[in-house]
Amino acid sequence: MDKLEIEGGVPLRGEVAISGAKNAVLPILAATILADGPCVLEGVPDLRDLDTMIRILRELGVEVEKGPGILTTQVVDDSKCRAPYELVKTMRASICVLGPLLARRKRAEVSFPGGCVIGPRPIDLHVAGLEGLGAEMRLEAGYIHADGRKMSGREIYLGGAYGPTVTGTANVLMAAVLTPGTTVIEHAACEPEVADLARFLVAMGGKVVGIGGPHLEVTGVDRLTGARHRVIADRIEAGTFMTAAAITHGDVVLRGADASHLTAAIATLTRMGVTVERRADKSIRVRALERIRPTDIVTLPHPGFPTDLQAQFMATLCVADGNSFVTEKIYPERFIHVAELQRMRARIRKEGPTAIVEGVDYLSGAPVMASDLRASAALVVAGLAARGTTLVDRVYHIDRGYERIEEKLVALGARIRRISDRTPAPLD
Ligand code: EPU
Repeated sequence: MDKLEIEGGVPLRGEVAISGAKNAVLPILAATILADGPCVLEGVPDLRDLDTMIRILRELGVEVEKGPGILTTQVVDDSKCRAPYELVKTMRASICVLGPLLARRKRAEVSFPGGCVIGPRPIDLHVAGLEGLGAEMRLEAGYIHADGRKMSGREIYLGGAYGPTVTGTANVLMAAVLTPGTTVIEHAACEPEVADLARFLVAMGGKVVGIGGPHLEVTGVDRLTGARHRVIADRIEAGTFMTAAAITHGDVVLRGADASHLTAAIATLTRMGVTVERRADKSIRVRALERIRPTDIVTLPHPGFPTDLQAQFMATLCVADGNSFVTEKIYPERFIHVAELQRMRARIRKEGPTAIVEGVDYLSGAPVMASDLRASAALVVAGLAARGTTLVDRVYHIDRGYERIEEKLVALGARIRRISDRTPAPLD
């Protein structure tokens, strides 16, 4: 298992290119199951989660060819319907194959996703949405067995106690495009990644109206062709680099990021006294000239502040000039980074789904370990500003969702290196 060693205290400077969005490409790749012809995806990041999805697709009879930043897919065997436990347990986004399998092959056997370190992550809304379209579902021996032969367009309400569901919306949308009749999805997730998936489906010949909003109208078609699509930029990677620039008092230009997907993060940074400039060439410049100011953050569904940036912003607020309140409304238990940040001298107190962060003068480098992608990213952000050396263990979590993170940081002047270890990363 690799580790990252960081010597903190270097202000980051320079330009960084933002990769394609993990959470867009995963459902889009699942959607290629729906296509009659070859699909070409561009702007594809090189990530561990993507490799997992490629393995699942191969299990499902889809040929996938991987080039630099590009994936080509072609369905070669549409008799396969089983997404096995061994793969699904390593990545929850695997559930995204359920909708396309039901719509295209009328049958699916997908391992029921297990526990997750960021808190309970049920799939009841996915199931209710697909059942609402007429799919028959039963759970047996750890697998969801689904029959899609009687599906037809209906009105589906997808809101839950914590708002809409991102991959649940993706699943119902992917099922609806090939389901006869009109499906109306109310309380659909408005995340840019769902909109990107919808645009890909339209490029394949799907009929989707209301893209980007909470009310989607889908008219089923008989078949979908292959399509070529460029994946949107990863707003969470961009937001992570913004916090890295802010906490190190750096001056960083993000290339390829879409500022319109980052409104909440940019507004929050501005409140923190960070200068964020949207430039004419569509790049974003982030400069932190003064001490970080405290602020309050509440995570919400898009366009609210994203839960996937909560940990990185909390790390940054650890050195703010005062107290901040960080409230998690999507995953009320997503605070595993708190104890590790405390090892780095952060002063954080948890009260239910809120963390009260008391800004300190400096963080102190320490060996730390995290068990979730964004929590690990937060520890890297903290390490970049900390005095002394931070050793982040279990880097495989970061490799799931950040493309060459240490190379990109080194190019910005960070003193960070990967210490490789032959022990294989566990499959969790
Ligand atoms: N929820 C339910 N029932 C469901 C589904 C979700 O109650 O059937 C609840 C969840 O427990 C949570 C809320 O609804 O409280 C939102 O969950 P959602 O379904 O939107 O999450 P997801 O689709 O499983 C995606 C991202 C996550 C991101 C969340 C929220 C992908 C592959 N994953 O997960 O990304 O945190 O949306 O924005 O798109 C990450 O990249 O690190 C990551 C965890």
